[in-house]
Amino acid sequence: MRHNFAFNCHCVSLKEFGSFGLKSAFLEGMKLGDSARKEYAVKTNRIILSERDIPTQWYNLAADLPHPMQPPLGPDGKPISPSMLEKIFPTNLIEQEMSQQRWIDIPDEILEILCRWRPAPLCRAYRLEQHLKTPARIYYKDESLSPAGSHKPNTAVAQAWYNKKFGIKKLTTETGAGQWGSALAFACNTLGLACKVYMVRISFDQKPFRKIMMRVWNASCVASPSDETNAGREVLKKDPNTPGSLGIAISEAIEEAVADPSGKTRYSLGSVLNHVMLHQTIIGLEAKKQLELAGEKKVDAVIGCAGGGSNFAGISFPFIADKINGAAIQIYAVEPTACPTLTRGPFAYDYGDIAQTTPLLPMYTLGHKFIPAPIHAGGLRYHGMAPLVSQATVEGLIKPRAYDQVKCYESAMLWARLEGAICAPETSHAIACAMDEAVKAREEGKERVILFCYSGHGLMDLAGYDKFLSGELSEYSLPDQILKDSLGKIRHHPQLAAKKTGKW
Ligand SMILES: Cc1ncc(COP(=O)(O)O)c(C=O)c1O
Repeated sequence: MRHNFAFNCHCVSLKEFGSFGLKSAFLEGMKLGDSARKEYAVKTNRIILSERDIPTQWYNLAADLPHPMQPPLGPDGKPISPSMLEKIFPTNLIEQEMSQQRWIDIPDEILEILCRWRPAPLCRAYRLEQHLKTPARIYYKDESLSPAGSHKPNTAVAQAWYNKKFGIKKLTTETGAGQWGSALAFACNTLGLACKVYMVRISFDQKPFRKIMMRVWNASCVASPSDETNAGREVLKKDPNTPGSLGIAISEAIEEAVADPSGKTRYSLGSVLNHVMLHQTIIGLEAKKQLELAGEKKVDAVIGCAGGGSNFAGISFPFIADKINGAAIQIYAVEPTACPTLTRGPFAYDYGDIAQTTPLLPMYTLGHKFIPAPIHAGGLRYHGMAPLVSQATVEGLIKPRAYDQVKCYESAMLWARLEGAICAPETSHAIACAMDEAVKAREEGKERVILFCYSGHGLMDLAGYDKFLSGELSEYSLPDQILKDSLGKIRHHPQLAAKKTGKW
C-alpha cells in the first residue's frame, strides 16, 4: 500500500512540475543512483487524499462518552432549555449542540467549500526524526493550508452555512490571536453574510496583519474591550489599560448579537462548544485514513494544543473513540503554563465569558474573570475548556500537559530550521510535546507512531518570534495566588461532580 501511494504522489508531482515548465526536484531525483532513488520513492513526505475521499460525516464524541455530559445550567442553577439559546444561535446549530447522534452528515454545500483546501495533507517530519535520532515516526496533520491559515475555517464555514440557512444576515464573534476572526470573516464573505469581530486588545496591537485579512474579507474588527458595548465599557472603566481577554470579547460579541432589533444577527464561537468540536473532527477522520495509507496499523500518541479545545478535539476525538473501544493510545492536550486550565483548574460549573452571558458550562476553568498574561499564543489564552474535552479528561481518556512559552518557541525554532515552516505560537505547544514523546521513544528504544495537529502557520505572528530572537521572552507560570483569587470568585457556583468509570 505504502509503495503504491508513493508512486502515485510522484506521478502527480511530475505532471505538475512539467506543466509549469519548472526544473523540478523530481528531475534532480532522476540523476540519483538506484539505492538513493529507492529511498526517495519510499519516503513519502505528504499523504494526500483525493477530494472524493473527504469524510462525509462528522463524529460526535458525546454519543460514546462512558458518562454522559452534564447539562449546561441557567442563572437559576437549572438545566437550560434549547429555546434559551435561540437569541444567540440558530436552532439548527442548537440541535447539533445538544445532539447525542454518533455520526452527523456534512451537507454537500459545506463539503464543496471545504474542498477548496481539504483534505489536508498528512505529513511525515523526517528531518525532525533524524535530528532527534528517534525510532518514532512523527506525523502531522497540516491545517495551516486553509485560506485563513489554520483549522478554524472548518467550523467557520459550517457555522456560517447553518446561520445563512436559518435566514441570519450577520454574525458577531470574538477572536484572540485573530485566527478565528479571520476564518469567520472568510466564511461569511464566501456565504454572503456580514461579520463583526471583537479582537482581544493585546493581539489587536501585536498582530496588525490579521485585522487587514478580516477587512479584505469584508469584516469589521474592533479592539476588545471596546466602548461599543456595556460589557466593554464596564471593563475599561475599571482598567483602561487591560490587555483584554477572550472572556471579555465573547461578552461584547454576544451583547451586540442579542441587541439587534431585526433579530437577524447571531453570535458565533470559534471553540469550546459541542458543535464546534463536532465540525473539527474532519481533521482526525482524514488523518485516520491517511495513516492507513501510510501503512500504519496503530497510532501510539495523538497530540494537540488546547485553547478552547477545538483543534485538539478535531485531531483526537476519532482516536478517543478507538481508545474507548480498547486501543492503547496516549492522548495529550497541551496548554501554556500561563493559562493552565486543564492542568491546574478545577472541573466546575463556570461561565464562558466575563459578563456571564453564557450558560454555566461543566468544564475545567481558571474562573471566568481570569485575565491571562499577554503571551503570544493568543489563541490559548482562554480561562475555560470545551465541556466535551473536559469530560473526557475527567474520565482519564486525555492527559493534559502544560508547557512554558520559552520551551515552545525553542521547539518552533528547531521545527522551522529542520522542517521549513514557521508555525503559529499555539501550534508550537503541540510540536514541543511531540518532540518530548519522540525523545522518550528513543530513550525507551521503542518504535512509536506520533500524530499531532499542526493547527496553523505563524506568518502573521512574527512579532513573537522577534521577541524570542531578541531574548525578550522569559518563562512564565501562573502564580498560585492569582489562581486562588480567581477561583475564589466562582466558589458560589453550583457544585459539579466529576463522574468517571475509573477505567483509564
Ligand atoms: C493556530 C491555532 N491553534 C490553536 C488555537 C487554539 O484554539 P482551539 O483550542 O480552539 O483549537 C488557535 C486559536 O486561535 C489557533 O489560532
